[in-house]
Amino acid sequence: MFVSDCLNVNELGHLTIGGLDTVALAERYGTPLYVMDEDQIRRNCRKYKSSIDRFYGGKGIAAYASKAMCCKAMCKIAMEEGMGLDVVSGGELYTAMSVNFPAERIYFHGNNKTVEEIAQALQYGVGRIVVDNLTELELLNSLAASRGKNADIMFRIKPGIDAHTHQFIRTGQIDSKFGLALETGEAMDAVKKALALPHINLKGLHCHIGSQIFDISPFELAAQVMLRFIADIKRETGVELHELNLGGGFGIKYVPDHQPVEYDRYMESVSKVVHAACAELGLEIPYIIIEPGRSVVGDAGVTLYTIGAVKEIPNVRTYVSVDGGMADNPRYILYQSEYHAMVANKAGLQRDMKVTLAGKCCESGDLIGEGMLIQQAKPGDILAVLATGAYNYSMASNYNRLPKPAVVMVKDGDSRVVIRRESCDELLQNDLL
Ligand code: LLP
Repeated sequence: MFVSDCLNVNELGHLTIGGLDTVALAERYGTPLYVMDEDQIRRNCRKYKSSIDRFYGGKGIAAYASKAMCCKAMCKIAMEEGMGLDVVSGGELYTAMSVNFPAERIYFHGNNKTVEEIAQALQYGVGRIVVDNLTELELLNSLAASRGKNADIMFRIKPGIDAHTHQFIRTGQIDSKFGLALETGEAMDAVKKALALPHINLKGLHCHIGSQIFDISPFELAAQVMLRFIADIKRETGVELHELNLGGGFGIKYVPDHQPVEYDRYMESVSKVVHAACAELGLEIPYIIIEPGRSVVGDAGVTLYTIGAVKEIPNVRTYVSVDGGMADNPRYILYQSEYHAMVANKAGLQRDMKVTLAGKCCESGDLIGEGMLIQQAKPGDILAVLATGAYNYSMASNYNRLPKPAVVMVKDGDSRVVIRRESCDELLQNDLL
């Protein structure tokens, strides 16, 4: 019935997260409300860490992709769990540095980093700048030179793999704005240029094939393609690269019939490919980096709403509207994402009401899902949408000038606000007349 281990139903028939009653949380903190279970997040971090230990003898790191959910508390958790951090903007980098995240464990991505962002990365001394293109390479070399520094980089490579996921969240195929193509020779040219630049240290390669992927084979294929390229580089330049970042993308269970692969199985299968390919190609096993985002935080979060209007259109459908919507969760309008929802105060009852869950934004497409089964819903009930820990808060907007909800973290039977609810005054704070 649930999509995550941290959820349950208590004796009142209320949905719980991390052992806390979601209805009580909604009462205490108001709705809409994002709630996250810290222990679940930490368990997810540890699964990755132990997988790296098991399958690569600890020679590697899992870097949390902070775009999935970035705030001080999340950066601190990732730091305490010994993870690295993937950041894609000056804002994410600034957030990480605000909690003194060790800069050497930070991987800085982005297909169009600004001069300011690159300068910021150099100033903090981030571990690896993942260079996307030649414009960036040259800019980075000159910014590093003017500061008397050298930049440690990886190149983002398009391995030419088309993972079967939504077209907006797949990135490894040739027609992508991210990275350098192998087929065209662009990637090899960039490698040779980098090796010749005085302020650039090329440490390794990166690829990311997409997100919410359930198959193992695209990951295996990507590892193979990348190692073959490392061997080509060695043959053509004599330089062997010793770091391989295989990106993120591991799928999670949003609805009960999703069957994600256990992390350990991904790691085991891919590590077999890595070991075999290295033996065949005469390479050392590289230091392996992976960048899970969704699978670290996704199943640790729920969003709580208060149900308002229930509108039954005979022979058409029943709209159940909540006090949030696309402003706090734009994933249905963007990707027609599937979610599992329930009436939190009736969680022990059958889900026998088929509804379209609607938000409160002035837009017909503002839905959380269609044809969803929930318990018999009435105005004033609390609605929980499950597995909203990733790409919900981080993609929230102020559309219709809706203030962003608070984020509450639960741990050890207690709860605390980690991001305050935005106020109307805060909505106005940058407005000038
Ligand atoms: N590394 C790189 C370079 C990435 O571009 C991404 C995700 C990740 C790691 C983390 O991937 P994950 O493990 O979370 O799948 N907004 C979309 C997802 C976009 C993912 C973008 N890149 C969504 O809501 O589904």
